[in-house]
Amino acid sequence: MDSMLKLFVSLLPVLFSYLLFGNISGVESSKKHPHHQQLQGPTKLFVFGDSYVDTGNIKMHEAPSWEVPYGITFPRKPSGRFSDGRVSTDYLAKLLGLKSPIPYLWKDYAGHERLEYGMNFAYGGTGVFETINSNLNMTYQISLFEKLIGNVYSPSDLSSSLALVSVAGNDYITYIAGNGTKPGFVAYMKQVINQTEVNLRRIHALGVKKIAIPLLHPLGCLPVVSKGSSFADCKKFVNLAVIIHNNLLQTVVAKLNKETEHSTFMVIDYYNAFLTVLKNKGEIPGITRFETPLKECCGGVCGVVDEKGVKNYTLCDDPTSTFFWDGLHPTQEGWKSVYTVFGKNLTASLIKA
Ligand SMILES: *[C@@H]1O[C@H](CO)[C@@H](O)[C@H](O)[C@H]1NC(C)=O
Ligand SMILES: *[C@@H]1O[C@H](CO)[C@@H](O)[C@H](O)[C@H]1NC(C)=O
Ligand SMILES: *[C@@H]1O[C@H](CO)[C@@H](O)[C@H](O)[C@H]1NC(C)=O
Ligand SMILES: *[C@@H]1O[C@H](CO)[C@@H](O)[C@H](O)[C@H]1NC(C)=O
Ligand SMILES: *[C@@H]1O[C@H](CO)[C@@H](O)[C@H](O)[C@H]1NC(C)=O
Repeated sequence: MDSMLKLFVSLLPVLFSYLLFGNISGVESSKKHPHHQQLQGPTKLFVFGDSYVDTGNIKMHEAPSWEVPYGITFPRKPSGRFSDGRVSTDYLAKLLGLKSPIPYLWKDYAGHERLEYGMNFAYGGTGVFETINSNLNMTYQISLFEKLIGNVYSPSDLSSSLALVSVAGNDYITYIAGNGTKPGFVAYMKQVINQTEVNLRRIHALGVKKIAIPLLHPLGCLPVVSKGSSFADCKKFVNLAVIIHNNLLQTVVAKLNKETEHSTFMVIDYYNAFLTVLKNKGEIPGITRFETPLKECCGGVCGVVDEKGVKNYTLCDDPTSTFFWDGLHPTQEGWKSVYTVFGKNLTASLIKA
């Protein structure tokens, strides 16, 4: 275990100097999907977390996600999402038959009907603790939410809502960037999980009756990591650490569910869904087969040009042909494939009381 963690720690500074988790965007929506409209399903979606779910909470030009070529597929210009197009929030909302919830930053510019679908508090770079990419932790996002209760949202709104809580790795990036020796990686992991539990309890205590938590995806397969093997393989020891995190997280979720009457908390298994898509050789109908699944479309420092206007990145011909957009984030086609793997199963568990 120790040597694995040493390896993990030695590998990742490279990885994380890259870290630009962030996201901004205009108002995008997934269309209402009549087949998925269920009377019993959640009617609002509240989103907490990082760039995997942020749809526009960082201010314009404060993150590369506001620069070309981000957003080229959708909405065909940078929108603050860390992708060429839609991200996981958009697909989850679509499963529920809802429009993608408006980013908190945009709430005063939107018509009131736009607030009906819930709100997105996620901010690229966020961790449960302060991170090298954001000094606004998840606690802060939950406080923003709390201030709207009884004001914009009523207690009965919350009881028919779903919260999506994404913790996609910024805490670990920060740990590693900060020399990664104290308090020891596994001990730190326990602190992250512990604080995640505190956050989940708080969201539930505020009145949200259904809370979905993505498991950590296989970080060892991210292009920033796999480029060490010319995008041939995922780093197994990194994924092993992810498995430890996910096991701890699932234990917490099981404990929380024991304490509540219903199955309030549920995980969304990004770990296996990502691997299913990345390993797909064409055998799964309806899911894109990616030719070089571990290689990103936008390589180098995506979205950055130097003083002379020379791009510091390279762009693939067709973003729908790659699973990853940049070194850290899936493309729209990637997210769409992941959500296709979940399909009706996920809809069923989200709607279950
Ligand atoms: C989150 O940030 C606030 C403000 O900086 C701080 O007071 C609080 O202790 C932080 N919470 C955690 C869990 O790090
Ligand atoms: C990393 O360790 C060095 C030497 O102990 C120290 O000077 C530096 O401040 C540390 N960096 C961080 C981010 O903690
Ligand atoms: C876990 O969280 C609780 C509540 O915030 C805190 O009292 C406790 O010290 C934490 N434990 C660890 C190991 O961080
Ligand atoms: C461009 O990329 C190179 C290597 O990836 C890096 O050393 C350099 O600092 C980058 N320049 C800018 C302006 O980001
Ligand atoms: C869907 O749910 C069924 C029953 O719970 C399970 O056997 C199956 O593996 C699930 N499929 C996916 C893609 O998660």
